[in-house]
Amino acid sequence: MKPRKQQLGLRRLRLNPAIRELTREVRVAAEQFIQPHFVVAGISEREAVPGMPNIYRETPATLLQQIESDLEAGVSKIILFGVPSEKATHDFDFSFTAGQVAAIKQQFGERVWVAVDICVCSATTHGQCGVVNAAGDLVENAATVAELARAAIEYAAAGADCVAPSDMMDGRVRAIREALDNSGHDQTVLMSYSAKFHSAFYGPFRGAADSAPGGAIKLHDRATYQIDPARPHDALASSLRDAEEGADILMVKPGMPYLDVLAGLTEAIPLPWAVYEVSGEYAAIEALAAQGLVNAPRAHVEAWLGFVRAGASIIISYGARSARQWITDYNHQS
Ligand code: PBG
Repeated sequence: MKPRKQQLGLRRLRLNPAIRELTREVRVAAEQFIQPHFVVAGISEREAVPGMPNIYRETPATLLQQIESDLEAGVSKIILFGVPSEKATHDFDFSFTAGQVAAIKQQFGERVWVAVDICVCSATTHGQCGVVNAAGDLVENAATVAELARAAIEYAAAGADCVAPSDMMDGRVRAIREALDNSGHDQTVLMSYSAKFHSAFYGPFRGAADSAPGGAIKLHDRATYQIDPARPHDALASSLRDAEEGADILMVKPGMPYLDVLAGLTEAIPLPWAVYEVSGEYAAIEALAAQGLVNAPRAHVEAWLGFVRAGASIIISYGARSARQWITDYNHQS
């Protein structure tokens, strides 16, 4: 019997750039990205964030310069994290962050879409995402939600296009939506961190945002309000609840360790889904690259493709300002 000539099967559609381009099922594009920014009160020069190349704790002045250069790189959507210098336990002062929103809008107007993270962790003496009770062992739900709603009104009044609560208190989406609607801000979009897990990957962020849990209270982590990584059904319940309470956009956070959750939730709930590729995910790729072990741009784009496959339409990533370049390069391989 004559040996059968070797024939190509599935490889036929992998053989050249043209056929690979034509057969791709998903694409990632620069316009899907939101760039996070840290703006810090009381510093005279911007500071590099350890482990996160290209990411800074900005001063109010450098923030505007960075947004300008990001616009040239194709980034027109941002999420802002304001870090006030005065720390408190309640009755927080949101004016620093609100002032940054106003300054961005004054300089860029509709050229930049501004989301503002709503949480009090950067404004507290202890780094918890809310008002802590006298015993120091519980973040009080109602008192915290009242602070968040007040922040939302202040940021919306300053011109924010979107508010994004990341605190994980119960009932905050309804309270914020009502506060916005009752104060004439019914056009302000509400993006909820609806499936936010109690993750170790937030490490670099907490340095940048002055928000690491600490201080002389009993609570020393965020386990009593963020979702347990072993409870995907809690992420579903939380997201269904936030959708019902009026969230416009839902979110899974972090990204890569929760792709199963993202895929399940985007299938289950017909709202736009964001994924937050958090600080530790970005830093992990950069740390591998610094050791010469991976090509960082390719690794970043590969992670982003995973998010799109899993159903995300919005990607919040520290690599947003490089997305256009990295995606172009990724798509032009041999
Ligand atoms: C705070 C908040 C966190 C992030 C966004 N808002 C972290 C936390 O819960 O400590 C994480 C972002 C990141 O790691 O990039 N409420």
